[in-house]
Amino acid sequence: MKFFIDTAETNVIRELAETGLVDGVTTNPSLVAKLGRPFGEVIAEICEITPGPVSAEVVATDYDTMLAEGRKLAAIAGNVAVKVPLTWDGLRACRALSDEGTAVNVTLCFSANQALLAAKAGATFISPFIGRLDDIHIDGMELIEEIRAIYDNYFYDTQILAASIRGPNHVRLSALAGADVATLPPDVLKGLANHPLTDKGLTAFLADAHKAGVTV
Ligand code: G3P
Repeated sequence: MKFFIDTAETNVIRELAETGLVDGVTTNPSLVAKLGRPFGEVIAEICEITPGPVSAEVVATDYDTMLAEGRKLAAIAGNVAVKVPLTWDGLRACRALSDEGTAVNVTLCFSANQALLAAKAGATFISPFIGRLDDIHIDGMELIEEIRAIYDNYFYDTQILAASIRGPNHVRLSALAGADVATLPPDVLKGLANHPLTDKGLTAFLADAHKAGVTV
């Protein structure tokens, strides 16, 4: 499974990229807006930090402007994946950009039928928002399972990018359901390494080594 980090904070991306555990980055307008820096500058910096796909989202809602914005974003670096919303105009922009060889991430997906449309429009990634479905008491994981089954039925190569992930359980269940990618807030990624028995075991090992004067 690939791990992307869901943030626009370049210092955080740099630190996590050094671990070799990060395969790409996703941003959205809300995440970039928090920084108060020019959009294009932030995306360019992220693209330099990581060689993996960097999702950068259009802010227009009509096809023509989305296409123009998508082309502008794609020109920033070869690893930009243009993010478009799952609307009719977004799907048309997805088709056009994909036909031009640009990777497209179709975002704000909340149903299997939407995901089917994105695959038909040539999306590189489809982003089902797990956490936001859970927020309204709909099982987000069921959506991942349905998309996986549909894509496998028809051999679509659109990658399922589990998004709006809120905790380690979402990561585990997305991996079990066959999502290709999970995009994680930085704290969730770091938290995956934690287990109280690991801490307890390490403390005991080190205490025994210290007592016996073991050195390496
Ligand atoms: O990857 C999509 C993500 O940015 C949305 O997450 O937590 O705002 O629903 P959230």
